[in-house]
Amino acid sequence: MSRVLLIVSGGIAAFKSLELVRLLRRDGIAVTAVLTEGGAQFVTPLSLQALTEDKVYSALWSLTDESEMGHIQLSRAADLLVVAPASANMLAKMAAGVADDLASTVLLATDKPVLVAPAMNVRMWTHPATQANMATLRARGVQAVGPEEGAMACNEYGFGRLAEPPAILAAIQALLRPAARPLAGRHVLVTSGPTHEPIDPVRYLANRSSGRQGHAIAAALSGLGARVTLVSGPVALADPPGVTVRRVETAEQMLAACIAALPTDVAVCAAAVADWRVAAASDAKLKKVPGAPPPALALVPNPDILATLATAGPARPRLVIGFAAETDDMLQHAQAKRARKGCDWIVANDVRPETGIMGGALNEVHLLTAEGIEAWPRLPKSDVAARLALRIAEAMGAMEALS
Ligand code: CTP
Repeated sequence: MSRVLLIVSGGIAAFKSLELVRLLRRDGIAVTAVLTEGGAQFVTPLSLQALTEDKVYSALWSLTDESEMGHIQLSRAADLLVVAPASANMLAKMAAGVADDLASTVLLATDKPVLVAPAMNVRMWTHPATQANMATLRARGVQAVGPEEGAMACNEYGFGRLAEPPAILAAIQALLRPAARPLAGRHVLVTSGPTHEPIDPVRYLANRSSGRQGHAIAAALSGLGARVTLVSGPVALADPPGVTVRRVETAEQMLAACIAALPTDVAVCAAAVADWRVAAASDAKLKKVPGAPPPALALVPNPDILATLATAGPARPRLVIGFAAETDDMLQHAQAKRARKGCDWIVANDVRPETGIMGGALNEVHLLTAEGIEAWPRLPKSDVAARLALRIAEAMGAMEALS
């Protein structure tokens, strides 16, 4: 039986937590409740206790609670932590790592997924502080349901209403369904986008990569439950929800961020890393000197991130996947690249300008593995990402069964 630890924080919407408990129990999900001081202003421990048929926890340092079930154990005994309603104050404490009562301590100590259902006045919700806190929490993998738009208890109108209990239940069911999260507990590293290699403070060498494919892969892997670290070059894309994003500019910075992200179970190198950088980038803007020839740019090779990860010894991710962007003899070049770089799979695509793939919305790839070559149809980049994420989940499952 799945178990949810339900944290009820302050706000007029707290009364809806009782309905949520009823729906969860009806669905066969066990619930243990933690009531904050604010929450206790709106619902009584007794009503939560009656509906959960379990003890309700509220004080941080109750000696009996600590001996029966300490806050660490409480934070680990559930499959999922749900904060509903999540007040602006609770979100702020979670974002800052404040642990000054049982609820916030449990949230800081947990190793389980967390779902928040925010509820507050519309101005509190739209305040940059709350939005920044939500962005921080999302980047750490915290999931959110709501808030919804509507009339509020304070006679204002807008976003801030607690999601309805059936919607919170649906979000909980999605997070608890293990088949939908085959990569839960896995850490995956994804590189994406181009790199910018400075010539001087205002000019750089770059390429036409948009980062769309890499970002879509990060989102798809996160959707299958993986903890994803996305190391991205400069792109004009939103961060995929629930993914930890490390932004870099140059190939050397990308390599350092990738190494800092290890250990990971899987690495997907989708970035179009510049092969060369300017040997001695100028600290000052290069000036045109009348009559003088244009400056000669001496280039030096950049580190190969894919090859470095694929030969990282004990730190090598179990599955290392590279991309091969080719304009001719695609399959031969991709085969050779797979062997040369020591990676397990290569996703090869034809980036001749007439294919419209580089920077476009569609992609047509071949997957090269030790078993052979698969031709995939032309698909939106998000569908290529979803297929690849499922193949990764299958491969990880198969490796698990062997070891
Ligand atoms: N790659 C990398 N670091 C580099 C260059 C490439 O991690 N410095 C990775 C890319 O992310 C991709 C794969 O290597 O997964 C292939 O990149 P590609 O540019 O197609 O191949 P190159 O190694 O640059 O070979 P060539 O330029 O000969 O095609």
